[in-house]
Formats: sequence, structure tokens, C-alpha cells
Amino acid sequence: MRITTNIFMALLLATSVTTVCAATPAEQYEKFCTICHLPGSHGAPKVGNHDAWTQRLRSGLNSIYRNAIEGIPNTTMLAKGGQAGLPDSEFRAIVDFMIAATALPPSVISDARRYDRLGLTDRDFIRRDVSRDGYLSRQEVGTDPVLLKGFSRFDINRDGRLSETEYRNAETALERERIAVNADDASLNTAVGKALAAIKGLKTEDVKIEISAGALVLSGVVAHPGLAIEAHDAVKRVAGLKSIQNRLITGDQMGWD
Ligand code: HEC
Repeated sequence: MRITTNIFMALLLATSVTTVCAATPAEQYEKFCTICHLPGSHGAPKVGNHDAWTQRLRSGLNSIYRNAIEGIPNTTMLAKGGQAGLPDSEFRAIVDFMIAATALPPSVISDARRYDRLGLTDRDFIRRDVSRDGYLSRQEVGTDPVLLKGFSRFDINRDGRLSETEYRNAETALERERIAVNADDASLNTAVGKALAAIKGLKTEDVKIEISAGALVLSGVVAHPGLAIEAHDAVKRVAGLKSIQNRLITGDQMGWD
């Protein structure tokens, strides 16, 4: 009798498990993600591409989940790859499937977990932390003259590096100082044009600058998402701008708009 009950229970469990997992992460990947991730279109990392995933995992697993859940600005990677209805846990399972199927060396995964343990959340900070020690050195902010100039002012505990909190406070202070400067739209236009012209590989003729009462809208087409980020980094230091909207897209995204 007890055996029968157990078998019955087992059957019941098996049925409910199959109902809950109607689609496995592999099947969901197949259905929702391969359209971009199989051909690797628009720079989407392909399953199996060790270099691409190793590079991305440098910022930790949590940051990959967060980027993919929230979407990556200026790319075709929308929030949850366009599947807004998927619960976070199911979506993360698909990402885990993609990473597992890539069969990376275990050290890449353990390094990513180590970086996760630093508990960093600021995307810009993580992007700039090239050495992955959880701090920004003068060298790591070297491409940002305004931040570099204020480095000692923002390094509150004077340890020669910026923690994530010190960096966030620096960004808040620099933004406030930028907004406080008075400048007319014409001179702002010139300054933004100059800042963009300094970016290697950016074709300024393809970028449209619109400024009205200090509010900047950047639009147009750039060759790859890295340029849209660099453009943002550059214009956010232009003194006098009150707000910035970055609507730059990458060339191969044209067909999607
Ligand atoms: C319309 C195209 C498209 C679809 C559909 C799409 N992706 Fe992406 N995905 C991209 C692109 C492009 C990138 C690279 C963006 C970049 O960093 O430049 C990307 C990047 C990613 C990354 C890396 C994030 C990081 O931080 O490096 C993950 C993870 C990811 N996608 C998961 C998914 C999953 C899971 C699905 C399906 C549910 C999906 N994507 C569907 C285009 C797409």
C-alpha cells in the first residue's frame, strides 16, 4: 500500500515538474535568442565563442545578468532580449545555458564569481575597472581629463584610488558643476562638436547634434556600440550642458528601426 502511494506521489511530482518546466532553458534560447545570437548579428555574443564570453565575463556574472535583463543601451539587446514577460529567474537560466554551452575553462567562471563578490553595481565604474581590482586608478580614468583633474579631490580617504562610492560621488559632483556653468547653445554646439571630433573612429558627419536651452540630443549612426559609449563619456563633461540624451545607434541596427 505504502509503495503504491509512493509511486502515485512520484507520478504526481513528475507531472507537476513537467508542467512547470514546459520549456527548458535550451528550448527558450532556441526560440527567443538564436535570431541574433546564432549568427552573432550586431555583435551579439555567439554560444561557443570563448573570446567573446571571456571578455564579457570579466565584469562578473551579475553584471551580465543585469545588462541583459535591463537591456544594453544603443544596441539591439533589448531588456530580456525582447521577452519582457519572462520572469528574471527563467531569463537568468537561459543566460546560464548560453554560458554553460560555451564550455569555458572553469577559471573564467571562478574569476567572474570573484568579481561578483566585490558587489559592484555601477556600469560605468565596472567598465572602467580594467584591472578588475574593484578600484579606479589614475591610469584607469586617464581618458577622462576632467575626472583625472579632480582625482585627489574625490579620493576622500587618500588611498590613491577611487572606490565605487567615491566614483559615484565624483560623477554627481561633476554633473552638478557642469550644469551650473552658463553657456549659450551656439557655443555648446561648438564644444560638443569638438569633444566628438576627438573620438577616434567616430564620423562626426554622421552624428546629429541638437541643443535647445542647454539640453543636448545626440542622434545618428556610429560603427559600433563602443563609440556610442565614448561619445556619451565625452559630452557629459561639456561644461554648460543641462541634460544629455544619447540616441546614437550602430550602423547594422538600421534595419531594425
Ligand atoms: C534582436 C537581437 C537580440 C536578441 C533577440 C537577443 N539578443 Fe542578447 N544580445 C544582442 C546583442 C547585439 C548583444 C551585444 C550588445 C553589446 O554589448 O554590444 C547581446 C548581448 C547579450 C548578452 C551579454 C550581456 C553582457 O553584459 O555582456 C546576454 C547574456 C544576452 N544577450 C542574452 C540574451 C538572451 C538570453 C536572449 C533571448 C531571451 C537574447 N539575448 C536575445 C542581441 C540580441
